[in-house]
Amino acid sequence: MQTFQSLLAKRLSDALPRAGLPEAGELTQATDPRFGDYQTNVALVLGKQRGENPRALAEKIVAHLDVSDFSEPPAVAGAGFINFTLQPAALEKQTLDILRDERLGVAETESPRRIVIDFGSPNVAKPMHVGHIRSTVLGDALARVGKFLGHEVIRDNHLGDWGTQFGMVIWGWKNLLDRQALQRNPLAEIVRVYKETHELASRDPKVREACRQELVKLQAGDKENTDIWNECVALSMQDFERVYRLLDVRYDLQCGESFYHDRLPGVVDRLLKAGIAEISEGAAVVFFHDDSALADKPLIVRKRDGGFNYATTDLATVDYRFNELKADTIWYVVGAPQTLHFKQIFAIARREGYTTDLRHIVFGSVLGEDRRLMKTRSGENVPLRELLDEACRRAREIIDEKNPGLSEEEKNNIAEKIGIGAVKYADLSQFRTTDYIFSWDKMLSLHGNTAPYLQNAYVRIRSIFRKAGDVAPKIDKLVLSEPAEIDLAKRVCEFAEIVPQVLNGFRPNVLANYLFELANSFHAFYEACPVLRSEEPARSSRLMLSDLSARVLQRGLDLLGIKVPERM
Ligand code: ARG
Repeated sequence: MQTFQSLLAKRLSDALPRAGLPEAGELTQATDPRFGDYQTNVALVLGKQRGENPRALAEKIVAHLDVSDFSEPPAVAGAGFINFTLQPAALEKQTLDILRDERLGVAETESPRRIVIDFGSPNVAKPMHVGHIRSTVLGDALARVGKFLGHEVIRDNHLGDWGTQFGMVIWGWKNLLDRQALQRNPLAEIVRVYKETHELASRDPKVREACRQELVKLQAGDKENTDIWNECVALSMQDFERVYRLLDVRYDLQCGESFYHDRLPGVVDRLLKAGIAEISEGAAVVFFHDDSALADKPLIVRKRDGGFNYATTDLATVDYRFNELKADTIWYVVGAPQTLHFKQIFAIARREGYTTDLRHIVFGSVLGEDRRLMKTRSGENVPLRELLDEACRRAREIIDEKNPGLSEEEKNNIAEKIGIGAVKYADLSQFRTTDYIFSWDKMLSLHGNTAPYLQNAYVRIRSIFRKAGDVAPKIDKLVLSEPAEIDLAKRVCEFAEIVPQVLNGFRPNVLANYLFELANSFHAFYEACPVLRSEEPARSSRLMLSDLSARVLQRGLDLLGIKVPERM
């Protein structure tokens, strides 16, 4: 099934050579519905390129353009835009086709790629905090969209499960551990031990040295230290898994930093042999002399004491994903503070000849209502699990008020969908690089651009169906006559055009905002067009249009990792 947008684009590129003109400009959804449904700026772009009158060019293009089977005659407007308005009959047919399509009109990509998505990636022995939420939620949504579009997606959790913090964790474990506290809340106790050791080490060089010794022993494979390390990783993982279960996020691979440990000497040897790294003051260093942005930012890949670092691991990771996972592209969903790090890694990977397409997908910060980085009252990072629990608790209050008659189990179930959905949507509906303010009241509001608003639109449609006896009428023709009906059908048809756009620039907010518009269109339709009380054939037709709206809402939210309840 073709979208109107791709159909128009095709007809336009057929017409241009007939008009003696080259391909140019864009065909997009109309920015203002008063002028139609789609528009192209091709004549404006060509006019500028060729120094010709754009309106005259537009007329010429229109004269060679044949879209009469689905569009009203194209109109030339303004400085030279060409506008298209769909014919109701074409819209009726397209909507019916979508109604019968599992995929709701969304085509699979013609060029599937193997995509490794590196997202979430929390650090062991440190709790996941609110800062990890953007990476996790964004990475998960991109993975869902990529998969739906027919790409092969490998979700990889690059856990921080190795590194200098373990010297402190192990020393603290041996000297400060409270076994009972560990039983009660393992991760909290590991974090306490780590923090206290960190404190001590910063004041006492003897402790610092002892921690270093523990790290050396761990790296040399000492049995006791390896056991402690294993236990810390396992306990942290349990905590992460709880969060992933709540968020409904899963991974195909969890190749943390430790996975690459054995490969690091090889990475550095390779770089030295290729002349990409050199020995400088005892360390192995990569200089970027011919890259103006990085010229004064050399990267150490092996320290003077022989130790490797975060960057060395990431170089080994690129190699693994390229040579063993055969990734066509790797997407790193990691916060903006690591921009320099990835610039350096990508530059080295290019020099080494890796042809995989490497992308750093940055995102802004989550701010508290005071517009500063979100912290607890005592100035700590907000632990993610507590935050998610609070989301569910607050959502539960809303359900208690809105629908007190539901069973306890049902209430909790719905509260989880709403609470988690609200947190995810607050994040995904924002442009990813902007900071956003975390506001419970805003994200849980039943009005406005929020998950509960969209979930409520879905629930309303489902309740229409329950009233209609839960049977979908079989129809072979859709009738669209009221403006609100036509508008809603157009929105539904747009879904197939919107979904692929999410991957251009990695913008789930495009999909989120589309769903918001769709819900608005549905509400306008519902106000203007009675469904159950209208006569046939309008009744069945409207029922099916409602059903289709619900399906698009459900599928769209699912692509964002958000679930819909059947009632709320
Ligand atoms: N563990 C890191 C952190 O919490 C993120 C890892 C991102 N991925 C990577 N391949 N470096 O900051």
